[in-house]
Amino acid sequence: MAIPIKTAEQIEGIRKSSILAAQTLKYLEQFVVPGTTTAFIDQKCEEFVRDHGAIPATKGYNGFPAACCTSVNEVICHGIPGAYELRDGDILNIDVTTILEGYFGDTCKMYEVGNVSDYAKRLMRVTKECLHIGFEQCVAGNKLGNIGYEINKHATSHGYSVVYEFCGHGVGLKFHEEPEVAHTAPKDSGPVLAPGMIFTIEPMINAGKARSKVDRKDGWTARTIDGKLSAQYEHTILITDGFPEALTDIDGEYNKA
Ligand code: MF3
Ligand code: CO
Ligand code: CO
Repeated sequence: MAIPIKTAEQIEGIRKSSILAAQTLKYLEQFVVPGTTTAFIDQKCEEFVRDHGAIPATKGYNGFPAACCTSVNEVICHGIPGAYELRDGDILNIDVTTILEGYFGDTCKMYEVGNVSDYAKRLMRVTKECLHIGFEQCVAGNKLGNIGYEINKHATSHGYSVVYEFCGHGVGLKFHEEPEVAHTAPKDSGPVLAPGMIFTIEPMINAGKARSKVDRKDGWTARTIDGKLSAQYEHTILITDGFPEALTDIDGEYNKA
């Protein structure tokens, strides 16, 4: 029931795994072009992760068949890589979780395939801002629920909706640990944040309605109920006694010097 507090040694292990997951997302960028299949991206993902001495956590996880999730356009999350060929104008999310020396790192981001509409670009920008705004709430002593409270406020102020059927999660020693991190929550709700907690924030923001439906045939692919676009960004975040650390932020976008 309690939220695990990681030891210094565990934090170092999770940090290394998180960096590898982020490097994997960066490596995959070159393959995101019109005509590439999502199965090819998955193959490159698996090669890269294994070449760096790690295991892709999603492979075989509750029967999930691939080394990453590839979620295109109206797919919210958990898209299964396959024969689909990326098309000019698509937006794609790749979500990678690595297991390195037993430690988990989890991150995802959006990619533009060719030329993407301003409508899609705005959704991706606001979703990334939502992650950043959630990150800023990650201060010891603050309530966990304020992450979702602020994310929801930002998304809805742009006319978007927040997916509530999938959440962020504690991560590090296992794939999914406590706490569950809701991306919409009442102000000042939930447990108090403390140094040594590590969890993901991974807002899924929809251009239309918030509801999702999972594909009945594959049991995984979650789509928007109205077929409108969805975007997602994810970082693995460490609570410290000062400024939080996004362990999967290798570009220093969140971790200011
Ligand atoms: N990486 C996803 C997350 O952020 C989980 C994917 S589980 C899978 O929590 F089975 F769909 F791969
Ligand atoms: Co996650
Ligand atoms: Co993930």
